[in-house]
Amino acid sequence: MDIITAIHSRKSIRKFKPDPVPKDIGAAMQNLCLAALNYDLGTCIEDQSVLYPEVLRKHASIPDTKRIVIAIAVGYPDWDFPANELISTRESIEKNTTWLGF
Ligand SMILES: Cc1cc2nc3c(=O)[nH]c(=O)nc-3n(C[C@H](O)[C@H](O)[C@H](O)COP(=O)(O)O)c2cc1C
Repeated sequence: MDIITAIHSRKSIRKFKPDPVPKDIGAAMQNLCLAALNYDLGTCIEDQSVLYPEVLRKHASIPDTKRIVIAIAVGYPDWDFPANELISTRESIEKNTTWLGF
């Protein structure tokens, strides 16, 4: 398994106060996950890297001058692993979306 991380220099982040995480990071993450799927790779977006960054910093050589914003675990799914039998459900689009002008 590999980990992709989004990092910023701490200096550039100051521009984004009071919300220091750029809004387009979500779109970038989703595109990475969709691109991985095209190569039969599974992904898991991980906040854990932000909460517990020490391991990631050590193994990916990320210096303290860079802030870890999010990480995405990437790997080939093991479909025989019991947890991968779980199929998660989604709320309906109608429940999550308000359509104006349509
Ligand atoms: C911004 C973000 C951060 C997340 N952080 C974690 C995390 O730290 N640990 C975790 O187990 N799942 C985390 N998740 C959830 C998983 O990435 C995944 O979306 C969730 O397990 C649902 O999987 P599914 O799409 O197969 O239903 C995070 C999701 C998002 C969007």
